[in-house]
Amino acid sequence: MNIQKVMVIGAGQMGSGIAQVHAMAGVDVILHDIKDEYVQRGITSISNHLARQVEKGRLTKAEKTEILERIEGSTDLANASEAELVIEAAVENIEVKSSIFAELDQITPKETILATNTSSLPITEIAAATNRPEKVIGMHFMNPVPVMKLVEIIRGLATADEVYEAIEELALRLNKTPVEVNDFPGFVSNRILMPMINEAIFTVYEGVAEPEAIDEVMKLGMNHPMGPLTLADFIGLDTCLYIMETLHEGFGDDKYRPCPLLRKYVKAGWLGKKSGRGFYKYS
Ligand code: CAA
Ligand code: NAD
Repeated sequence: MNIQKVMVIGAGQMGSGIAQVHAMAGVDVILHDIKDEYVQRGITSISNHLARQVEKGRLTKAEKTEILERIEGSTDLANASEAELVIEAAVENIEVKSSIFAELDQITPKETILATNTSSLPITEIAAATNRPEKVIGMHFMNPVPVMKLVEIIRGLATADEVYEAIEELALRLNKTPVEVNDFPGFVSNRILMPMINEAIFTVYEGVAEPEAIDEVMKLGMNHPMGPLTLADFIGLDTCLYIMETLHEGFGDDKYRPCPLLRKYVKAGWLGKKSGRGFYKYS
């Protein structure tokens, strides 16, 4: 199966990156969000990234134009009927995702593959919102999508082999490295990463050290490219909290308890880089 047209749902940091890498690989993209201003913000962010590639001599201006022409904006989910694959990258919330998948199941032809970029939620449960669980799959990109090589691919209980193979083939076409993992909360990536970030937040909460010091320890001591608190701000503190809640609920183990300071920041609207404030301030 040679997928030629995808719809990406959610034009935030992940959705816009996912749209960009598809368009760069020659795939036509419909970039969908609930408001036109969000769609335009996503397209502007893609255009800015591509402009930097032109400045660095890695793309010509003509190639940048061609890539942008492959992306059309949408605020009408019914446009999903034109796509062979839909990749959902909206918020990390099971009710929102289940409702989008139930709607997609009504809108799209029965052959359309429905993928989710969820960071942690059960693929099997999202698939259960549709009448085609064999066509539902997890396609988990890493942030920033144009840079990071990994795509975690997660089968739900009923995902068909040919759907897995189509997604694996597409990931390779995007110049990514697919890795198959099983459907457990947080999969592999966030089961390991997010408790480390949560522990770094507890380290601030308990007054062990300032955020700058914690990040410095992990960068210089463990060679991490970003300290855990910078990374948390980069991912989005709301997303970090949703993932910790999924781990906590899914495993029922207190070791996954979200740090109260993380809850407090999210309640205050301190969502990290995207809102201008998290563990650090951004102008
Ligand atoms: N979008 C697109 N490209 C970006 C970018 C962004 N937000 N940020 C940086 N880049 C690009 C730069 O343009 C640059 O590209 P070129 O080499 O082509 O010029 C390249 O990345 C390196 O950038 P910089 O030199 O400015 O900065 P850096 O060397 O510090 O790298 C980084 C930036 C790649 C983000 C690096 O800090 C890093 O790897 N951080 C950790 C990222 C990480 O752990 N991601 C996983 C998050 S968890 C996740 O995604 C799963 C989940 O479900 C939550
Ligand atoms: P974001 O907040 O940057 O963007 C989310 C976008 O989804 C927003 O533009 C919002 O308007 C849109 N949206 C919300 N509800 C919608 C709906 N019903 N229909 C259409 N669009 C809707 O979030 P993000 O960081 O891009 O994360 C998106 C998804 O990707 C989440 O499931 C997250 O867990 C996952 N993810 C995030 C990261 C990360 O590092 N941030 C990494 C991998 C996966």
